[in-house]
Amino acid sequence: MTDNQLSTATARFAGWVTRSEGKKFLQLRSDVPEPAIPLGKGGRDDWASLYIHIPFCRTLCPFCCFNRYLFDETQARRYFANLKKEVGFYVDRGFRFSDFYFGGGTPTVLMDELLDFIDFLKKNFKVRQISMETTQREINPEVIAALKKAGVNRLSIGVQSFDNDLLKAMGRLVGTGEDAIEKLKMAQGQFDTVNADFIFNFPTQTIDQFKKDVATFKERGIDQATFYPLMPSPHKKSRLERRFHKVDTSREKEFYDVILKELYQGGYKASTAWCFSRGNRLIDEYIIDYDDYIGVGAGSVGFLNGDFFVNTFSLGKYDEMIAGGKLPIVSWRRLSEREHLRYYMLTKLFGMSLDPEKFRQRFNGDVNRKLFWELSFFKMLGLVKQNKNITVTPKGMYTLCVMQKEFFAALNTLRESYIDGQI
Ligand SMILES: C[S@@+](CC[C@H](N)C(=O)[O-])C[C@H]1O[C@@H](n2cnc3c(N)ncnc32)[C@H](O)[C@@H]1O
Ligand code: SF4
Repeated sequence: MTDNQLSTATARFAGWVTRSEGKKFLQLRSDVPEPAIPLGKGGRDDWASLYIHIPFCRTLCPFCCFNRYLFDETQARRYFANLKKEVGFYVDRGFRFSDFYFGGGTPTVLMDELLDFIDFLKKNFKVRQISMETTQREINPEVIAALKKAGVNRLSIGVQSFDNDLLKAMGRLVGTGEDAIEKLKMAQGQFDTVNADFIFNFPTQTIDQFKKDVATFKERGIDQATFYPLMPSPHKKSRLERRFHKVDTSREKEFYDVILKELYQGGYKASTAWCFSRGNRLIDEYIIDYDDYIGVGAGSVGFLNGDFFVNTFSLGKYDEMIAGGKLPIVSWRRLSEREHLRYYMLTKLFGMSLDPEKFRQRFNGDVNRKLFWELSFFKMLGLVKQNKNITVTPKGMYTLCVMQKEFFAALNTLRESYIDGQI
Protein backbone atom coordinates (compact mmCIF):
# COMPACT_ATOMS: atom_id res chain seq x y z
CA MET A 1 0.00 0.00 0.00
CA THR A 2 1.40 3.45 -0.88
CA ASP A 3 1.43 6.24 1.74
CA ASN A 4 -1.38 7.95 -0.12
CA GLN A 5 -3.57 4.83 -0.17
CA LEU A 6 -2.90 4.26 3.52
CA SER A 7 -3.80 7.85 4.33
CA THR A 8 -7.08 7.60 2.37
CA ALA A 9 -7.94 4.26 3.97
CA THR A 10 -7.23 5.61 7.48
CA ALA A 11 -9.35 8.71 6.85
CA ARG A 12 -12.21 6.56 5.55
CA PHE A 13 -12.07 4.24 8.52
CA ALA A 14 -11.97 7.13 11.01
CA GLY A 15 -14.75 8.82 9.03
CA TRP A 16 -16.89 5.70 9.15
CA VAL A 17 -16.46 5.45 12.94
CA THR A 18 -17.32 9.15 13.27
CA ARG A 19 -20.45 8.81 11.18
CA SER A 20 -21.61 5.89 13.35
CA GLU A 21 -20.89 7.95 16.47
CA GLY A 22 -22.61 10.96 14.89
CA LYS A 23 -25.72 8.88 14.26
CA LYS A 24 -26.08 8.41 18.01
CA PHE A 25 -26.58 12.16 18.27
CA LEU A 26 -29.66 11.57 16.13
CA GLN A 27 -31.27 9.23 18.62
CA LEU A 28 -33.02 12.19 20.09
CA ARG A 29 -35.80 12.49 22.59
CA SER A 30 -38.75 14.75 21.97
CA ASP A 31 -39.86 14.79 25.62
CA VAL A 32 -37.88 17.95 26.18
CA PRO A 33 -37.70 18.50 29.94
CA GLU A 34 -39.14 21.76 31.23
CA PRO A 35 -37.09 23.86 31.55
CA ALA A 36 -34.83 22.22 28.98
CA ILE A 37 -31.80 24.34 29.61
CA PRO A 38 -29.98 24.53 32.92
CA LEU A 39 -29.36 27.87 34.57
CA GLY A 40 -26.49 29.99 33.28
CA LYS A 41 -23.37 30.00 35.42
CA GLY A 42 -24.02 32.97 37.70
CA GLY A 43 -23.87 35.55 34.94
CA ARG A 44 -20.45 34.38 33.67
CA ASP A 45 -20.06 35.15 29.98
CA ASP A 46 -16.86 33.25 29.25
CA TRP A 47 -17.99 29.64 29.09
CA ALA A 48 -20.59 29.47 26.32
CA SER A 49 -20.88 31.22 22.98
CA LEU A 50 -24.05 32.20 21.15
CA TYR A 51 -24.77 31.04 17.60
CA ILE A 52 -27.53 32.98 15.83
CA HIS A 53 -29.11 31.39 12.75
CA ILE A 54 -30.71 33.62 10.11
CA PRO A 55 -32.33 31.20 7.66
CA PHE A 56 -33.18 33.52 4.76
CA CYS A 57 -31.55 33.85 1.34
CA ARG A 58 -32.54 35.77 -1.81
CA THR A 59 -31.93 32.66 -3.93
CA LEU A 60 -31.47 29.09 -2.76
CA CYS A 61 -28.35 27.19 -3.81
CA PRO A 62 -29.30 23.59 -4.65
CA PHE A 63 -26.20 22.12 -2.96
CA CYS A 64 -26.72 23.94 0.35
CA CYS A 65 -26.95 21.73 3.43
CA PHE A 66 -28.29 24.31 5.90
CA ASN A 67 -31.78 25.26 7.04
CA ARG A 68 -32.69 28.11 4.68
CA TYR A 69 -35.83 29.58 3.15
CA LEU A 70 -36.50 32.07 0.39
CA PHE A 71 -36.38 35.60 1.81
CA ASP A 72 -39.72 37.19 2.63
CA GLU A 73 -39.47 40.58 4.30
CA THR A 74 -42.53 40.34 6.57
CA GLN A 75 -41.50 36.89 7.74
CA ALA A 76 -37.90 38.00 8.29
CA ARG A 77 -38.97 41.00 10.42
CA ARG A 78 -41.12 38.74 12.57
CA TYR A 79 -38.19 36.34 12.85
CA PHE A 80 -35.79 39.01 14.13
CA ALA A 81 -38.38 40.06 16.75
CA ASN A 82 -38.66 36.42 17.84
CA LEU A 83 -34.90 36.05 18.01
CA LYS A 84 -34.75 38.86 20.57
CA LYS A 85 -37.38 37.10 22.63
CA GLU A 86 -35.49 33.82 22.42
CA VAL A 87 -32.24 35.47 23.54
CA GLY A 88 -34.30 37.10 26.33
CA PHE A 89 -35.38 33.63 27.54
CA TYR A 90 -31.71 32.75 27.99
CA VAL A 91 -30.98 36.03 29.76
CA ASP A 92 -33.85 35.25 32.15
CA ARG A 93 -32.19 31.91 32.86
CA GLY A 94 -28.98 33.66 33.88
CA PHE A 95 -27.03 33.29 30.65
CA ARG A 96 -24.53 35.91 29.55
CA PHE A 97 -22.50 35.79 26.34
CA SER A 98 -19.63 37.76 24.88
CA ASP A 99 -18.88 35.99 21.58
CA PHE A 100 -21.50 35.89 18.84
CA TYR A 101 -21.57 33.95 15.59
CA PHE A 102 -24.15 34.84 12.94
CA GLY A 103 -24.67 32.11 10.39
CA GLY A 104 -27.25 31.21 7.84
CA GLY A 105 -28.77 31.47 5.48
CA THR A 106 -27.67 35.00 4.88
CA PRO A 107 -27.60 37.05 8.10
CA THR A 108 -27.15 40.37 6.22
CA VAL A 109 -30.28 39.87 4.13
CA LEU A 110 -32.18 42.57 6.07
CA MET A 111 -29.62 45.07 7.32
CA ASP A 112 -31.83 47.37 9.42
CA GLU A 113 -33.09 44.41 11.46
CA LEU A 114 -29.61 42.93 11.78
CA LEU A 115 -28.14 46.21 13.06
CA ASP A 116 -31.03 46.63 15.46
CA PHE A 117 -30.44 43.09 16.72
CA ILE A 118 -26.73 43.80 17.28
CA ASP A 119 -27.74 46.92 19.28
CA PHE A 120 -30.00 44.70 21.34
CA LEU A 121 -27.06 42.36 22.05
CA LYS A 122 -24.91 45.31 23.10
CA LYS A 123 -27.60 46.49 25.52
CA ASN A 124 -27.73 43.06 27.15
CA PHE A 125 -24.14 41.83 26.98
CA LYS A 126 -20.52 42.93 26.94
CA VAL A 127 -19.93 42.16 23.28
CA ARG A 128 -16.35 41.03 22.67
CA GLN A 129 -16.47 39.49 19.26
CA ILE A 130 -18.90 39.14 16.36
CA SER A 131 -18.48 36.85 13.38
CA MET A 132 -20.83 37.31 10.41
CA GLU A 133 -21.57 35.22 7.30
CA THR A 134 -22.73 36.80 4.08
CA THR A 135 -22.65 36.47 0.31
CA GLN A 136 -20.98 38.74 -2.22
CA ARG A 137 -24.39 39.95 -3.42
CA GLU A 138 -25.01 41.70 -0.10
CA ILE A 139 -21.67 43.48 -0.02
CA ASN A 140 -21.30 47.16 -0.91
CA PRO A 141 -19.43 50.07 0.75
CA GLU A 142 -22.46 51.05 2.88
CA VAL A 143 -22.96 47.53 4.21
CA ILE A 144 -19.25 47.21 5.00
CA ALA A 145 -19.25 50.56 6.84
CA ALA A 146 -22.38 49.61 8.80
CA LEU A 147 -21.05 46.19 9.83
CA LYS A 148 -17.74 47.72 10.83
CA LYS A 149 -19.46 50.39 12.90
CA ALA A 150 -21.62 47.74 14.56
CA GLY A 151 -18.43 46.00 15.73
CA VAL A 152 -18.26 42.99 13.42
CA ASN A 153 -14.73 41.55 13.71
CA ARG A 154 -14.90 38.74 11.22
CA LEU A 155 -16.71 38.82 7.90
CA SER A 156 -17.05 35.59 6.00
CA ILE A 157 -18.08 35.76 2.35
CA GLY A 158 -19.25 32.63 0.55
CA VAL A 159 -17.38 32.36 -2.73
CA GLN A 160 -17.44 28.59 -3.47
CA SER A 161 -15.33 29.14 -6.62
CA PHE A 162 -14.15 31.99 -8.83
CA ASP A 163 -14.86 29.87 -11.91
CA ASN A 164 -18.05 31.02 -13.66
CA ASP A 165 -18.70 27.67 -15.36
CA LEU A 166 -18.47 25.93 -12.03
CA LEU A 167 -20.71 28.49 -10.31
CA LYS A 168 -23.26 27.86 -13.05
CA ALA A 169 -23.03 24.08 -12.59
CA MET A 170 -23.52 24.62 -8.85
CA GLY A 171 -26.68 26.63 -9.48
CA ARG A 172 -25.13 29.44 -7.43
CA LEU A 173 -26.85 32.67 -8.42
CA VAL A 174 -25.26 35.27 -6.15
CA GLY A 175 -22.83 36.70 -8.74
CA THR A 176 -19.78 35.98 -10.88
CA GLY A 177 -16.26 35.05 -9.87
CA GLU A 178 -15.01 38.50 -10.91
CA ASP A 179 -17.65 40.09 -8.70
CA ALA A 180 -16.54 37.91 -5.76
CA ILE A 181 -12.95 39.11 -6.19
CA GLU A 182 -14.16 42.72 -6.25
CA LYS A 183 -16.21 42.29 -3.07
CA LEU A 184 -13.40 40.52 -1.22
CA LYS A 185 -11.09 43.38 -2.15
CA MET A 186 -13.67 45.84 -0.83
CA ALA A 187 -13.89 44.01 2.53
CA GLN A 188 -10.22 43.10 2.97
CA GLY A 189 -8.54 45.27 5.62
CA GLN A 190 -11.86 46.56 6.98
CA PHE A 191 -12.27 43.81 9.60
CA ASP A 192 -9.87 41.88 11.85
CA THR A 193 -10.50 38.87 9.63
CA VAL A 194 -12.01 38.51 6.17
CA ASN A 195 -12.73 34.92 5.23
CA ALA A 196 -13.70 33.38 1.89
CA ASP A 197 -15.59 30.07 1.82
CA PHE A 198 -14.85 27.57 -0.94
CA ILE A 199 -16.25 24.15 -1.77
CA PHE A 200 -14.18 21.26 -3.08
CA ASN A 201 -14.98 17.87 -4.59
CA PHE A 202 -17.94 19.24 -6.49
CA PRO A 203 -19.09 16.72 -9.18
CA THR A 204 -17.93 18.67 -12.27
CA GLN A 205 -15.05 20.50 -10.55
CA THR A 206 -11.57 19.77 -11.92
CA ILE A 207 -8.32 19.84 -9.95
CA ASP A 208 -7.10 22.58 -12.29
CA GLN A 209 -10.13 24.76 -11.56
CA PHE A 210 -9.50 24.27 -7.86
CA LYS A 211 -5.78 25.06 -8.14
CA LYS A 212 -6.72 28.32 -9.88
CA ASP A 213 -9.18 29.19 -7.09
CA VAL A 214 -6.51 28.61 -4.45
CA ALA A 215 -3.96 30.62 -6.45
CA THR A 216 -6.39 33.54 -6.86
CA PHE A 217 -7.14 33.49 -3.14
CA LYS A 218 -3.40 33.67 -2.38
CA GLU A 219 -2.69 36.40 -4.93
CA ARG A 220 -5.40 38.62 -3.50
CA GLY A 221 -3.89 38.44 -0.01
CA ILE A 222 -7.18 37.62 1.72
CA ASP A 223 -6.81 36.82 5.44
CA GLN A 224 -8.43 33.43 5.54
CA ALA A 225 -10.10 30.69 3.50
CA THR A 226 -12.38 27.91 4.62
CA PHE A 227 -12.54 24.92 2.29
CA TYR A 228 -15.64 22.81 2.77
CA PRO A 229 -15.59 19.30 1.33
CA LEU A 230 -18.92 18.88 -0.45
CA MET A 231 -21.39 17.38 2.01
CA PRO A 232 -24.71 15.75 1.23
CA SER A 233 -27.54 18.22 0.96
CA PRO A 234 -30.79 17.33 2.69
CA HIS A 235 -33.00 19.34 0.30
CA LYS A 236 -34.44 17.11 -2.38
CA LYS A 237 -37.23 19.07 -4.02
CA SER A 238 -35.65 19.83 -7.41
CA ARG A 239 -33.67 17.55 -9.71
CA LEU A 240 -30.58 19.67 -9.02
CA GLU A 241 -31.03 19.34 -5.27
CA ARG A 242 -31.46 15.57 -5.52
CA ARG A 243 -28.09 15.47 -7.27
CA PHE A 244 -26.38 16.59 -4.07
CA HIS A 245 -28.11 14.10 -1.85
CA LYS A 246 -25.19 11.68 -2.16
CA VAL A 247 -21.55 12.64 -2.59
CA ASP A 248 -18.77 10.79 -4.46
CA THR A 249 -15.60 10.95 -2.35
CA SER A 250 -13.15 9.22 -4.71
CA ARG A 251 -11.35 12.47 -5.67
CA GLU A 252 -11.67 14.26 -2.35
CA LYS A 253 -8.11 13.62 -1.12
CA GLU A 254 -6.63 14.91 -4.38
CA PHE A 255 -8.41 18.23 -3.77
CA TYR A 256 -7.33 18.31 -0.15
CA ASP A 257 -3.70 17.75 -1.14
CA VAL A 258 -3.87 20.98 -3.20
CA ILE A 259 -4.85 22.89 -0.05
CA LEU A 260 -2.09 21.26 1.99
CA LYS A 261 0.58 21.96 -0.61
CA GLU A 262 -0.43 25.48 -1.57
CA LEU A 263 -1.55 26.85 1.78
CA TYR A 264 -0.34 24.75 4.69
CA GLN A 265 3.11 24.22 3.23
CA GLY A 266 2.87 27.71 1.72
CA GLY A 267 3.02 29.49 5.08
CA TYR A 268 -0.66 29.64 6.06
CA LYS A 269 -1.67 28.54 9.52
CA ALA A 270 -4.25 25.77 9.86
CA SER A 271 -6.92 27.25 12.15
CA THR A 272 -8.88 24.05 11.62
CA ALA A 273 -8.44 21.09 9.29
CA TRP A 274 -10.30 23.10 6.64
CA CYS A 275 -9.65 26.75 7.57
CA PHE A 276 -6.33 28.38 6.67
CA SER A 277 -5.23 31.83 7.81
CA ARG A 278 -2.44 34.32 7.40
CA GLY A 279 -1.30 34.70 11.03
CA ASN A 280 -3.65 34.33 13.99
CA ARG A 281 -7.23 35.05 12.97
CA LEU A 282 -10.67 34.59 14.36
CA ILE A 283 -12.44 31.51 13.17
CA ASP A 284 -16.05 30.67 12.63
CA GLU A 285 -16.05 27.52 14.65
CA TYR A 286 -17.85 28.33 17.85
CA ILE A 287 -17.71 24.61 18.56
CA ILE A 288 -13.91 24.83 18.82
CA ASP A 289 -13.34 28.05 20.72
CA TYR A 290 -16.00 27.09 23.26
CA ASP A 291 -16.77 23.70 24.74
CA ASP A 292 -20.39 24.79 25.22
CA TYR A 293 -22.66 26.85 23.01
CA ILE A 294 -26.26 27.89 22.72
CA GLY A 295 -27.93 28.14 19.32
CA VAL A 296 -30.85 30.48 18.67
CA GLY A 297 -33.10 30.62 15.62
CA ALA A 298 -34.84 28.00 13.49
CA GLY A 299 -32.55 25.07 12.72
CA SER A 300 -29.81 25.79 15.22
CA VAL A 301 -28.37 23.32 17.71
CA GLY A 302 -26.80 23.81 21.12
CA PHE A 303 -24.45 21.81 23.31
CA LEU A 304 -24.22 22.29 27.06
CA ASN A 305 -22.09 20.07 29.24
CA GLY A 306 -22.96 16.83 27.47
CA ASP A 307 -26.55 17.74 26.55
CA PHE A 308 -27.30 18.27 22.86
CA PHE A 309 -30.32 20.44 21.96
CA VAL A 310 -32.10 20.95 18.65
CA ASN A 311 -34.36 23.89 17.85
CA THR A 312 -37.32 23.54 15.52
CA PHE A 313 -36.46 23.87 11.82
CA SER A 314 -39.94 25.13 10.94
CA LEU A 315 -40.52 28.89 10.75
CA GLY A 316 -44.19 28.42 11.69
CA LYS A 317 -43.37 26.34 14.76
CA TYR A 318 -40.63 28.78 15.71
CA ASP A 319 -43.19 31.63 15.72
CA GLU A 320 -45.67 29.56 17.72
CA MET A 321 -43.24 28.37 20.38
CA ILE A 322 -41.75 31.80 20.97
CA ALA A 323 -45.24 33.35 21.10
CA GLY A 324 -46.11 30.73 23.73
CA GLY A 325 -43.16 31.94 25.82
CA LYS A 326 -41.20 28.71 25.26
CA LEU A 327 -37.68 27.95 24.15
CA PRO A 328 -38.11 26.51 20.63
CA ILE A 329 -36.22 23.31 21.49
CA VAL A 330 -37.94 20.26 19.97
CA SER A 331 -35.47 17.51 20.82
CA TRP A 332 -32.51 16.75 22.98
CA ARG A 333 -30.16 14.02 24.03
CA ARG A 334 -27.86 13.54 26.97
CA LEU A 335 -24.62 12.04 25.68
CA SER A 336 -23.02 9.17 27.54
CA GLU A 337 -19.59 9.99 28.97
CA ARG A 338 -17.93 8.02 26.13
CA GLU A 339 -19.88 9.95 23.45
CA HIS A 340 -19.10 13.23 25.16
CA LEU A 341 -15.38 12.37 25.31
CA ARG A 342 -15.26 11.42 21.65
CA TYR A 343 -17.18 14.53 20.61
CA TYR A 344 -14.75 16.65 22.61
CA MET A 345 -11.79 14.92 21.01
CA LEU A 346 -13.19 15.40 17.52
CA THR A 347 -13.91 19.11 17.92
CA LYS A 348 -10.57 19.94 19.56
CA LEU A 349 -8.51 17.92 17.08
CA PHE A 350 -10.50 19.39 14.19
CA GLY A 351 -9.26 22.71 15.63
CA MET A 352 -5.74 21.17 15.48
CA SER A 353 -4.95 20.96 19.20
CA LEU A 354 -6.26 19.35 22.38
CA ASP A 355 -5.04 20.80 25.68
CA PRO A 356 -4.74 17.98 28.30
CA GLU A 357 -5.08 20.48 31.16
CA LYS A 358 -8.38 21.87 29.86
CA PHE A 359 -9.50 18.28 29.28
CA ARG A 360 -8.67 17.47 32.91
CA GLN A 361 -10.71 20.44 34.13
CA ARG A 362 -13.74 19.38 32.09
CA PHE A 363 -13.64 15.61 32.57
CA ASN A 364 -11.76 15.28 35.82
CA GLY A 365 -9.25 12.80 34.43
CA ASP A 366 -6.25 12.18 32.25
CA VAL A 367 -6.89 12.42 28.51
CA ASN A 368 -4.53 9.57 27.64
CA ARG A 369 -6.35 7.29 30.03
CA LYS A 370 -9.92 8.32 29.24
CA LEU A 371 -9.33 8.27 25.48
CA PHE A 372 -6.75 5.50 25.55
CA TRP A 373 -7.86 3.50 22.49
CA GLU A 374 -8.67 6.49 20.33
CA LEU A 375 -5.43 8.35 21.03
CA SER A 376 -3.31 5.18 20.76
CA PHE A 377 -4.76 4.62 17.28
CA PHE A 378 -4.07 8.22 16.26
CA LYS A 379 -0.54 8.19 17.69
CA MET A 380 0.36 4.81 16.22
CA LEU A 381 -0.51 6.04 12.73
CA GLY A 382 1.29 9.37 13.26
CA LEU A 383 -1.91 11.43 12.94
CA VAL A 384 -1.26 13.33 16.18
CA LYS A 385 1.76 14.02 18.36
CA GLN A 386 1.97 15.03 22.00
CA ASN A 387 4.20 17.64 23.55
CA LYS A 388 2.35 19.86 26.01
CA ASN A 389 -0.76 19.65 23.84
CA ILE A 390 -1.91 16.90 21.53
CA THR A 391 -1.61 18.37 18.03
CA VAL A 392 -2.57 17.11 14.60
CA THR A 393 0.33 16.34 12.24
CA PRO A 394 0.19 17.21 8.52
CA LYS A 395 -0.36 13.47 7.97
CA GLY A 396 -3.41 13.58 10.24
CA MET A 397 -5.09 16.61 8.73
CA TYR A 398 -7.04 14.84 6.00
CA THR A 399 -8.32 12.32 8.54
CA LEU A 400 -9.64 15.16 10.72
CA CYS A 401 -11.18 16.81 7.65
CA VAL A 402 -13.03 13.58 6.81
CA MET A 403 -14.09 12.96 10.41
CA GLN A 404 -15.61 16.43 10.72
CA LYS A 405 -17.34 16.06 7.37
CA GLU A 406 -18.80 12.72 8.42
CA PHE A 407 -20.03 14.21 11.66
CA PHE A 408 -21.74 16.99 9.69
CA ALA A 409 -23.10 14.39 7.27
CA ALA A 410 -24.76 12.68 10.21
CA LEU A 411 -26.18 16.04 11.28
CA ASN A 412 -27.46 16.51 7.73
CA THR A 413 -29.51 13.35 8.14
CA LEU A 414 -31.12 15.05 11.12
CA ARG A 415 -31.60 18.26 9.13
CA GLU A 416 -33.23 16.27 6.35
CA SER A 417 -35.84 14.67 8.55
CA TYR A 418 -36.56 17.93 10.38
CA ILE A 419 -36.87 19.92 7.17
CA ASP A 420 -39.01 17.23 5.46
CA GLY A 421 -41.28 16.85 8.46
CA GLN A 422 -41.15 20.57 9.36
CA ILE A 423 -40.32 19.55 12.91
C1 LIG B 1 -24.32 28.17 5.10
S1 LIG B 1 -23.38 29.19 4.09
C2 LIG B 1 -23.77 30.75 4.72
C3 LIG B 1 -23.08 31.88 4.03
C4 LIG B 1 -23.67 32.43 2.79
N1 LIG B 1 -25.06 32.29 2.69
C5 LIG B 1 -23.03 31.76 1.58
O1 LIG B 1 -23.71 31.31 0.72
O2 LIG B 1 -21.84 31.74 1.55
C6 LIG B 1 -21.71 28.90 4.64
C7 LIG B 1 -20.91 28.02 3.75
O3 LIG B 1 -21.32 26.69 3.84
C8 LIG B 1 -20.79 26.00 2.73
N2 LIG B 1 -21.75 24.99 2.29
C9 LIG B 1 -23.07 25.12 2.09
N3 LIG B 1 -23.61 23.95 1.68
C10 LIG B 1 -22.59 23.06 1.63
C11 LIG B 1 -22.48 21.69 1.27
N4 LIG B 1 -23.54 20.98 0.87
N5 LIG B 1 -21.28 21.10 1.35
C12 LIG B 1 -20.19 21.79 1.74
N6 LIG B 1 -20.23 23.09 2.08
C13 LIG B 1 -21.40 23.71 2.02
C14 LIG B 1 -20.54 27.04 1.64
O4 LIG B 1 -19.15 27.12 1.38
C15 LIG B 1 -21.05 28.32 2.26
O5 LIG B 1 -20.31 29.43 1.88
S1 SF4 C 1 -25.10 28.52 0.35
FE1 SF4 C 1 -25.57 30.44 1.39
S2 SF4 C 1 -26.78 31.63 -0.13
FE2 SF4 C 1 -26.78 29.54 -0.81
S3 SF4 C 1 -28.68 28.70 0.04
FE3 SF4 C 1 -27.01 28.17 1.47
S4 SF4 C 1 -27.06 29.76 2.95
FE4 SF4 C 1 -28.23 30.53 1.19
